[in-house]
Amino acid sequence: MTGRLTATCWPGCVALCLEVGAGLGTMVARLLDWGVVGAGEYILLDADRQLLDCSRRWLCDWAAARGLRSDLLPDGLQVGDLRVRLVHAELGSYLEAADGALADVLIANAVLDLVDVPAVLPGLLRLLVPGGAYWFTINYDGETIFEPGHPLDGQVMRAYHRDMDERIRDGRPAGESRTGRRLFHNLWSAGAPALAAGSSDWVLSVGPDGNYPADEAYFLRSILNTIQNALLNRQHGVEPADLADWLAVRGRQLDAGELVYIAHQLDFAGRSPG
Ligand SMILES: C[S@@+](CC[C@H](N)C(=O)[O-])C[C@H]1O[C@@H](n2cnc3c(N)ncnc32)[C@H](O)[C@@H]1O
Repeated sequence: MTGRLTATCWPGCVALCLEVGAGLGTMVARLLDWGVVGAGEYILLDADRQLLDCSRRWLCDWAAARGLRSDLLPDGLQVGDLRVRLVHAELGSYLEAADGALADVLIANAVLDLVDVPAVLPGLLRLLVPGGAYWFTINYDGETIFEPGHPLDGQVMRAYHRDMDERIRDGRPAGESRTGRRLFHNLWSAGAPALAAGSSDWVLSVGPDGNYPADEAYFLRSILNTIQNALLNRQHGVEPADLADWLAVRGRQLDAGELVYIAHQLDFAGRSPG
């Protein structure tokens, strides 16, 4: 998708890049690695202050490991020629108050499925300069598959999705389980139809050596914890004993290297409205 993005809509000269829900800052590191950004300003916006605080140290260590010069600044850091600014804000509140410079590129990676897209999308796109590009990646699209199958899979997944659909954060609706497919229409309605769209599914399984590559076992355990936490207080029809049984089976399969996990997600790239 990145190749298509740069070919179809990434502006030649990026002065300001805004990433919402940026977390630790792994995307800016990735884009520096790929040579997609290198100078100008890159804003990391996130509602989680602790993550932003960690991101300064994490990005400095990341830069040092690549022999890149970095310097801490009062509101962020300098990495080579790129000024990285950290903004602590909840997206909806930020949009209501937004009066800053407009961005050439707007990025949201694994974030839009955590917010009320129809409500925030028009304001989000207004943060772009005319002709600016958006890149909205890893938008969950209502399909989580575990293999081997378990008789409770359907029930657990329905409850998990219902939890996503009814989630409230800071008094606002916070995402839905079919964000990916709905973005086609939501982007149209906001006047910024996608120029390119494609899937970015997560597919995790052990390699030929019987081990999960890199940190994938840790990641898979985090996914099981996320499902457990989502259904902790509101079971949505799954009996606690059934959930415990399902989690125990999945945990054992993970330990034995038998668990396969697939999550369907979609990426979108396009330009500012008009
Ligand atoms: C799944 S993480 C993705 C982080 C990062 N984009 C990445 O790919 O590593 C979602 C991030 O969005 C942030 N987030 C969720 N809802 C938000 C909101 N309403 N306003 C601002 N940030 C939000 C979370 O704090 C978290 O850091």
